[in-house]
Amino acid sequence: SRDIRSQLLEINKLAAVYYFHQLRGQNGSTAMNYLKKRELGDETIQRFGLGYSSMYSDDLYRYIKSKGYKDDILKESGLFTYGDGKVTDKFWNRVMFPIMDMNNRVIGFGGRVMGDGKPKYLNSPETKLFDKSRNLYGLNIARTSRKPNIIICEGYMDVISLHQAGFNQAVASLGTALTSGQASLMKRYTDQVLITYDSDGAGVKAALRAIPILKEAGLTTKVINMKPYKDPDEFIKGLGAEAFQERIDKAQNSFMYEISAMEQNYDLTDPDSKTRFFNEVAGRIVGFEEELERNNYIEAVADKYMVSMDALKAMVGNYGNRVG
Ligand code: CTP
Ligand code: MN
Ligand code: MN
Ligand code: MN
Ligand code: MN
Repeated sequence: SRDIRSQLLEINKLAAVYYFHQLRGQNGSTAMNYLKKRELGDETIQRFGLGYSSMYSDDLYRYIKSKGYKDDILKESGLFTYGDGKVTDKFWNRVMFPIMDMNNRVIGFGGRVMGDGKPKYLNSPETKLFDKSRNLYGLNIARTSRKPNIIICEGYMDVISLHQAGFNQAVASLGTALTSGQASLMKRYTDQVLITYDSDGAGVKAALRAIPILKEAGLTTKVINMKPYKDPDEFIKGLGAEAFQERIDKAQNSFMYEISAMEQNYDLTDPDSKTRFFNEVAGRIVGFEEELERNNYIEAVADKYMVSMDALKAMVGNYGNRVG
């Protein structure tokens, strides 16, 4: 029999085209209205191949079966649920986001409920085609963007809104923690990554986890603040593309971002706590190999917190001695 991967690619392609037509058909009007309500234009909907999985729970199954595929391969596609003698579509009554690999081949899907149902998003499981840790949503487009950076955000709608606003260098890790595989993928196309995760606690935590992974891959990293909005999609809707560009221009150096997060664990109005904070900062600065880089960070931290550069420099200089 033919290669499993190529059969799975065919099945995904068939499913994507099927969902796409469902969105355009008479049953797709609610989904189309949902996308319009989220301010997506026809061109954007087309470009990302968005679709709709119908209300009927085995529509796709019957369609794909009619093309002659056998259950053993359909099982591996992750598109169906096999129960006691009954097979149903995994996705139904959801807006569908095909996930493409770098060669624009469909390797999986995300599906969003149109209201407040749970789960908000349902995603394809990992399959022989879909390795979540080695793909980034939107990278198939971002890789050809010729922008000086890649913007990494959390979700499908963030990527799509950013692209629609002209930031076609946006990609998403789709709610999973950024992996080193994804970082090296980005490194093939850029030297600088701008993190634009959600401004909630989970987003801050995810950014702090991503920074060392990006750094390890040799990427210069900055963090873009989305406040007072929750995510890039809401920011663009609220303030527009120009304001987003201003946030890019003002993106924070990732080390300074880490320091700001660290600061939350201390009370800078208390001299003792303040000293311990700067000691922790000094310990981090010691980690930079180049003296020039250490000095640049000493200067930046001293400026930011209005403390003496010499005192901070002395603390950095002494750090190894005291700990080692
Ligand atoms: N996610 C998921 N399953 C969930 C919730 C989230 O897979 N139940 C993933 C999706 O890829 C989602 C991303 O995590 O896009 C970020 O989650 P969240 O910020 O909660 O959703 P948004 O992308 O903001 O979704 P929307 O704007 O459509 O509400
Ligand atoms: Mn994996
Ligand atoms: Mn989120
Ligand atoms: Mn959102
Ligand atoms: Mn979000």
